[in-house]
Amino acid sequence: MAADVSAAEQRLFSFVGGAIGAWSVVEIRPVRGPVLADVARLEVVQETSPAMPGGEGWVLKGVTSNIRYATTIEQGELRSLQAGLGRSEATCAALIPIRKTSAWWDLPQDERRAIFEEQSRHTRIGLRYLPPVARRLHHCRDLGTAEPFDFLTWFEFAPDYAGAFDDLLAELRATTEWSFVEREVEVRLSR
Ligand code: HEM
Repeated sequence: MAADVSAAEQRLFSFVGGAIGAWSVVEIRPVRGPVLADVARLEVVQETSPAMPGGEGWVLKGVTSNIRYATTIEQGELRSLQAGLGRSEATCAALIPIRKTSAWWDLPQDERRAIFEEQSRHTRIGLRYLPPVARRLHHCRDLGTAEPFDFLTWFEFAPDYAGAFDDLLAELRATTEWSFVEREVEVRLSR
């Protein structure tokens, strides 16, 4: 049982927006629904109960999890192209918390996969931006607590790739999958 707890803790990441942290907040862009409060810095920590930042600060939590939609072939393509987080040249980052509608969550798995990939080409689009963009997906619904978002998506890239990253966002936001997004905030960062 103790082993389970520590395995779960290893997958848990907290994004703490406040006055301190390794990342400097460049801009918080409202995309859909209520935006997050303006903060100066962001710290990413792997603690179960990080200290709450003062003032208008916020803490968002999510866990890395198993694959839901990617096929064997897609996973192979992702593995062969993707870069790890923490590259020295990747001094830009984006934290994009996303919440999907209840209509999305009411769909059976096969219909969600069809919208995600066959209709929206999420992986196909994303693969074109690897390896310059490194990513990690965190799930919030798995936490069992009431969380404001369903996903915390995290991306790192070099400054000269910021324009291409904007193109990626525009491509994804034009898809059918994004018609199921009811809240999205774009936190752009640098270090
Ligand atoms: C950098 C290129 C990208 C690649 C290669 C990529 C790839 C993927 C893959 C393969 C999955 C499915 C994981 C699974 O099978 O469970 C996924 C899920 C997801 N991605 Fe991306 N992605 C990229 C960019 C983005 C961006 C820029 C955003 C946000 C603006 C985003 C948001 C999401 C979300 C919210 C999910 C979870 C969807 C769900 O489970 O309903 N992705 N991505």
